[in-house]
Amino acid sequence: METQSIVVLDFGAQYSQLIARRIRENKVFSVVLPFNASLDEIRSYSPVGIVLSGGPSSVYDEGAPHADKKVLELGVPVLGICYGLQFMVYALGGKVRPAEKREYGHATVERVADSRLFEGVPKVLSVWMSHGDSAEELPPGFRLTAKTANAVAAVENAEQKMWAVQFHPEVHHTPLGADILRNFALKICGAPPTWTGQHFIESTVAAVKAQVGKSDAICALSGGVDSSVAAVLVDRALRDSSAKSKLTCVFVNNGVLRKNEFEKVQQNLRDNLGLHLVAVDATERFMKKLAGVTDPETKRKIIGNEFIAVFDDEARRIEKEEGKVDWLVQGTLYPDVIESRSVRGPSQVIKTHHNVGGLPEKMKLKLIEPLKDLFKDEVRRIGRDLGMPEEILQRQPFPGPGLAVRILGEVTKERADMLRDCDEIVVGEIKKAGLYQKIWQSFAVLLPVMSVGVMGDQRTYAYTCAVRAVHSEDGMTADWVPLPYEVLKTISNRIVNEVRGVNRIVYDITSKPPGTIEWE
Ligand code: XMP
Repeated sequence: METQSIVVLDFGAQYSQLIARRIRENKVFSVVLPFNASLDEIRSYSPVGIVLSGGPSSVYDEGAPHADKKVLELGVPVLGICYGLQFMVYALGGKVRPAEKREYGHATVERVADSRLFEGVPKVLSVWMSHGDSAEELPPGFRLTAKTANAVAAVENAEQKMWAVQFHPEVHHTPLGADILRNFALKICGAPPTWTGQHFIESTVAAVKAQVGKSDAICALSGGVDSSVAAVLVDRALRDSSAKSKLTCVFVNNGVLRKNEFEKVQQNLRDNLGLHLVAVDATERFMKKLAGVTDPETKRKIIGNEFIAVFDDEARRIEKEEGKVDWLVQGTLYPDVIESRSVRGPSQVIKTHHNVGGLPEKMKLKLIEPLKDLFKDEVRRIGRDLGMPEEILQRQPFPGPGLAVRILGEVTKERADMLRDCDEIVVGEIKKAGLYQKIWQSFAVLLPVMSVGVMGDQRTYAYTCAVRAVHSEDGMTADWVPLPYEVLKTISNRIVNEVRGVNRIVYDITSKPPGTIEWE
């Protein structure tokens, strides 16, 4: 099956995947390739259009990324964005004026000529501009179609199927940018809006089959959206109707999962979805290691290391029973890839995030990351197309170190049980109020603060539970949610009445920054 696509050539911009994602929103398949991808590789995606992305360089810089000029001669429409505009101008014989330094910001663009790229877009529009080098002399046949007060904003040579914009249509700060990319994909390239999750599933399954061949793979499953969707997808590739899957999923109970989670995840993924799932209850191992530890970073490190140790033990056992394992499946998403890329230089460690980092190196496994080009909502859609239950797909994020980062002070089994009960009430009431899917995260935190209370005629002296609910786009920043008083009231009443050991409830009204979402 041939999927026509729009190929985005990446010149080093932070936003290249976002361009592809905006195009995919129109049901047109789009893929990002490095700027120096060979023509054969580009052709293998059956391109009906090419986008040249932005990038931090100047075309005249030594070592600046230059694509093969033949990409401009493939006969399909090309859209240059920012650096892509300059590369186009430079490659086709125009002149670019280098700027001292690049600046980004809001700008107002005025259209000065009709253009199919701007069809349906008002004459004046606000955009997110990157002022950098600017086109000084246009290549033959090109004309200016939009400008800012002092710079070129868009140029084109429609006869030669070349379009280019200096601003970034892919970012939120360009409100009508999606329209411009839609015009390019659907109207100018004439790409068929037929790409669906089903296409992605079929092509990924085929690719994983080809990549992994007859070897075995293993997956660290958390029960969350990302690892579950990755596992189900790879399972399809590594299973033929007669044989059992060559993918073994390992799900570890680290003793700080939520209430009944160990059982529920097994039920969902093994019983309902048929994954070959090995569930390891390592509660004791983790609790022993965590005994007496109160420092947040130490807790995180202990859980991360112990997880790797447990997983390693399991992998060895599986290898003994089933043969050599060569591959590790990870549910890495595109935002995880950006975050771990050190484009912003070494930044201070606020919290060491633990998932399965460190595993591939230690176990000498090769990685399969089928979701690494996608964003969370795209992964949810794929999960839905795979027939996965909403309970998994709509799950709010849950940190790798689990409830340990929500139990301040020492983590013990008793405290974990207490927090599990509080957490179940918070999440249950929020679901009942129909708010669960509208909120990024909502949970309870157990504080080692004891205070005096009165229940019946009895004096109590017990722990404090903090309730937290935040809105967020990506977890990087967050706002606290003004939960309805009624919901807060029910949560508070129920926790004090139903959870022994807790007699006071407080609501966390801190945004991130300056707070973080988790308390540790
Ligand atoms: P913070 O607390 O840093 O959290 O504001 C931001 C987001 O990341 C989640 N989080 C983690 N996720 N492993 C994860 O997979 C971790 O170690 C981890 N620590 C925090 C947190 O729940 C929030 O969504």
